[in-house]
Amino acid sequence: LYAWMRNARDNTPVKFDETSQCWKVYRYEDVHHVLTDWETFSNDMCRIVPEHHFTRGNLSTMDPPVHKQLRGVISQGFTPRTLAQLAPRIEELVKELLDEVGDRNEIDIARDLSYQLPLNVISELIGVPREDRGILQRTADAQLALTCENPADSDFVVQVQKAMEELQAYIKDLISVRRAAPRDDLISKLVTARVEDRALDEEEIVNFTVLLLLAGHLTTMSLLGNMMLTLSEHPDQLAEVRADRSLVPNAIEEVLRYRTPVPEGGRVTNRDVELGGTVIPANKMVLCSLISANRDEREFPSPDTFDIRRGSNPQLAFTTGIHYCLGAHLARLEAKIALNAVLDRYAQLNLTEIAWYQSHSLCNPKHLTFDVQRA
Ligand code: HEM
Repeated sequence: LYAWMRNARDNTPVKFDETSQCWKVYRYEDVHHVLTDWETFSNDMCRIVPEHHFTRGNLSTMDPPVHKQLRGVISQGFTPRTLAQLAPRIEELVKELLDEVGDRNEIDIARDLSYQLPLNVISELIGVPREDRGILQRTADAQLALTCENPADSDFVVQVQKAMEELQAYIKDLISVRRAAPRDDLISKLVTARVEDRALDEEEIVNFTVLLLLAGHLTTMSLLGNMMLTLSEHPDQLAEVRADRSLVPNAIEEVLRYRTPVPEGGRVTNRDVELGGTVIPANKMVLCSLISANRDEREFPSPDTFDIRRGSNPQLAFTTGIHYCLGAHLARLEAKIALNAVLDRYAQLNLTEIAWYQSHSLCNPKHLTFDVQRA
């Protein structure tokens, strides 16, 4: 895949893809340009892909000025300062999960930690009680079972639809509960929010909440799994991080670059536009390859080398511009706390087994089993 992308960057950096009927963009500079020029490259993808699962009320499919207003409603819940207050709670959640592993000398990081932690964190932020998290798991599992090979009408797709309907019905109930008695959680913020001088309707709140749940869970799960995997593949760098914890943030940025969780970011052209020497007509879907941009040799020296001591690392895993991932600081915080806790608890970590989800949209380990020795 990486060799194929290098070839695409060199020879067909902006290319129409017959299979997906989209324009694909591979170079860092072009991807960066598309993501920042929101006047030309719109997020209103619903207008050309009506069956797209992104829907009304969802930040990802909005343009200014509505996008800015809605983002403002909940962005204060995700600033570094607010998150610093959340850190002790995340530390507790990590400890709880590692305590469940107990004194076993084996841990499946993917199952025991990376799947659970982001689910628990985002559920608490949104206000989904612990006893109701089975519904979220069913939706996440159905999404993870979807692969490129699943035909559109397969059982897998039916399962996703069923799980999604169950989740939407559940969130509708939760909205009524919070309307009656708001609390200090994100659902209550959305219920009481005013955008363009009106309250959000039920469908918009449901759609936004589903986005937060899925975006907050599966992507961060991917980061946590990839982090433990990549560091264990580079034992010298793992040892360096263990000895000098100030390297943890660099290690996380480099994992995001080297194993980018979300492969692509989508936009639709508002007009005919020239990009990388090619003209893309108006109203066409554009897919920016974040994986390829993050391995572009024009931006990153020796891009296929994992190097936590990389000087500058403007990786695009969270994209850039006005749609820059709202949960980026939260995901980094979870990864930092989880990595420190694992290193504190285990003096030895030897990877013994790995299995991948065959998911169509994420690069995600399903099992990452380590033989461990407690510190
Ligand atoms: C948007 C990646 C974690 C919430 C996005 C986008 C990407 C992304 C690629 C699309 C941005 C664009 O269209 O330009 C990731 C990765 C994560 C992560 C790699 C973890 C490692 C989270 C978390 C949340 C979250 C924990 C929790 C709330 C969102 C939201 C958007 C978004 C609300 C839409 C932002 C907008 O359109 O203004 N993320 N994300 N993400 N992400 Fe994340």
